[in-house]
Amino acid sequence: MASIGFIGAGRMAEAMIKGLIARGVYSKDDVVACAPSEETRKRVSSLGVGMYESAGEVAGLADILVLAVKPKHVQGLFESEGLKLKKSHLLISIAAGITIETLKSYVPDSRIVRVMPNHCCAVLEGAAGFARGNATDDDIELVKRIFSATGLAVEVRERDMDAVTGVSGSSPAFVYMFLRAVVKAGTGAGLTEDVATKLAAQSLVGAGRMALETGMTPEALVDNVCSPGGTTIEGVKVLDAGGFEELVEKAVSASVERSKEMSGR
Ligand SMILES: NC(=O)c1ccc[n+]([C@@H]2O[C@H](COP(=O)([O-])OP(=O)(O)OC[C@H]3O[C@@H](n4cnc5c(N)ncnc54)[C@H](OP(=O)(O)O)[C@@H]3O)[C@@H](O)[C@H]2O)c1
Repeated sequence: MASIGFIGAGRMAEAMIKGLIARGVYSKDDVVACAPSEETRKRVSSLGVGMYESAGEVAGLADILVLAVKPKHVQGLFESEGLKLKKSHLLISIAAGITIETLKSYVPDSRIVRVMPNHCCAVLEGAAGFARGNATDDDIELVKRIFSATGLAVEVRERDMDAVTGVSGSSPAFVYMFLRAVVKAGTGAGLTEDVATKLAAQSLVGAGRMALETGMTPEALVDNVCSPGGTTIEGVKVLDAGGFEELVEKAVSASVERSKEMSGR
């Protein structure tokens, strides 16, 4: 019997498997996963985990299952493929927009936790929000352990999952756009692309750490780096004049709205 099984072995599952093994939450012998394509099975089996073709095989081997297929494949998995789960199964779904109620209709006997991770879990700096469904406190401790292995895990109400999708699921893309613009300006000012990327990316990492570790508000952090008459304040004035914060707010809200649409709300 394996300890954890992944239904789907794409980018997210692979990142999670790597994190769980690297952080010693599970050994490779305790992990199984499945994917229909031989190419994926070959790639992921190089991590040393057991790979299978069908979800049914994985469900027969592990009581903790991570549902990591694309949202559009979830229905087919339970309806056409007829995947059945037992009372002993804990289903941890990371499928965006698929509600606990929908999952419950497919697996009425299992315990369910819905999670929205983000792709930064690939470098063990992920941010995940999770909603507990009918899971027990022990299940929740386990979910925290699993997602803390690849970053930060925070419990939220299920109705807040759309907000989590905008705030941490989608926001890395917005940050990459910001990064691209900073690098472009840096190369325009004479740096090589490599140096500009390293300096700008590390500044984003550092700024995130400052926000997490100092407990200072974003306003206080901005004030802290803006000395009157200095260089930073000049850039901040340009961002303010261009409506930077309002634009970012709109981008996050657009992702939240799309998540609501996808979950039929
Ligand atoms: N990517 C993100 O940033 C992100 C963030 C938060 C949540 N999510 C959620 O995470 C889930 C996975 O996303 P992803 O980016 O990892 O997708 P992905 O790379 O496309 O991986 C999906 C995996 O599912 C497998 N699969 C497809 N049909 C299957 C079936 N019937 N039985 C078993 N496995 C099946 C695919 O197999 P093959 O490789 O053989 O095709 C593939 O390995 C999605 O529901 C997404 O909403 C993703």
